[in-house]
Amino acid sequence: MGATNSTSKRRLSKRFHNNNFLINDSYDRFSNNIPSSKRRISSESTISSHSTNSFDRCTELIKTFGSRKYFNRDHVKDIFPTDNDELKRLELTHIWNKELWEGQSFFLPVDEVFSRNAKVLDIGCGTGIWSLDMARKYPNCHFTGFDIVDNFPLELKQSNVDFALGNILEGLPYDDNTFDLVFMRNMKGCLSQKDYNKCLQEIIRVSSRWILILDSDIILIDGGPLANQLREEVLDELMKNYDINMMPSSIIRKCLEDNNQLSDIHFEDKQCPIGEWGGRLGTLYLEILKWATKNLYHSVSTLYSEEEYNLKVDEAFEELNHYNGYDMVFRICAKKNVEKRKSLKKIVRNT
Ligand SMILES: C[S@@+](CC[C@H](N)C(=O)[O-])C[C@H]1O[C@@H](n2cnc3c(N)ncnc32)[C@H](O)[C@@H]1O
Repeated sequence: MGATNSTSKRRLSKRFHNNNFLINDSYDRFSNNIPSSKRRISSESTISSHSTNSFDRCTELIKTFGSRKYFNRDHVKDIFPTDNDELKRLELTHIWNKELWEGQSFFLPVDEVFSRNAKVLDIGCGTGIWSLDMARKYPNCHFTGFDIVDNFPLELKQSNVDFALGNILEGLPYDDNTFDLVFMRNMKGCLSQKDYNKCLQEIIRVSSRWILILDSDIILIDGGPLANQLREEVLDELMKNYDINMMPSSIIRKCLEDNNQLSDIHFEDKQCPIGEWGGRLGTLYLEILKWATKNLYHSVSTLYSEEEYNLKVDEAFEELNHYNGYDMVFRICAKKNVEKRKSLKKIVRNT
């Protein structure tokens, strides 16, 4: 665990407390905008109509475990459930993420694409909430959500947003250099360490300009003994059984830095407080993290019975709320050198 930087924590604490109001305010407002009755949940998705996958029936893709729905791990690595409860967690995560990055979840050099008629691809778009949000903000741009299941809200689609179904690990159904920006957020629970390179290669292939990745490293700095122990057990189990690394920043950075088609790689990370000491953002993040940990049960069920696990999570998060712990979120953007390669070809042809 890293050492506490008390000055920066004090600064964080002050800033986050300025914005301290009830978390349910904006969550309820947001949820009211997209009622769950207007959403297709995964098990109701129309997979076969535009599938590019080798599995065309939902029954092969999704399995039921107790009252929850999960991906069939023979096909999809995702460790989280794929049902309404998880979609609500993703919506809350979007609200928190947006506030954490102060409404600018894209990186500054990337924002030049939004001033033109850019084409943007959102990998593993989930509820489509980022694309829908951005499509409202930038009506001149076109956003495509891509996911292995269709959870796009049916009635709220805007004319500058569409959705495509497919498995990133089986390749993206687009030509090289199709999109000005390819964006991927919070996919660390869906990609094994081995798969990152394959996934990022595809993202780079279909981008003509920028790629942007947003995620977090689950480090729990200064998190307290119960939370630290639970974190270690859960993360070890995910690594051992699924090759899933819940601290993916260094893997992603390395894949991007090793790719000779990319330049201008920018990395930025940010502390995100966990618990009441971090005001509204800290309280939101505590709730999201606890919800995510509980939703992981199916993927770590060899550790404890469900009852024992839920009790452990409750105790660990109760304790965590009284510590000044924090995690790290990060964003990485990189520019693809399409022009350079074109001019290189020209030079070769002319000589
Ligand atoms: C944790 S959610 C993130 C959703 C969204 N990016 C966000 O930030 O709100 C992960 C999403 O990736 C999708 N997914 C998982 N494995 C995938 C794959 N191999 N190809 C495409 N989508 C995948 C899941 O269906 C889920 O919607």
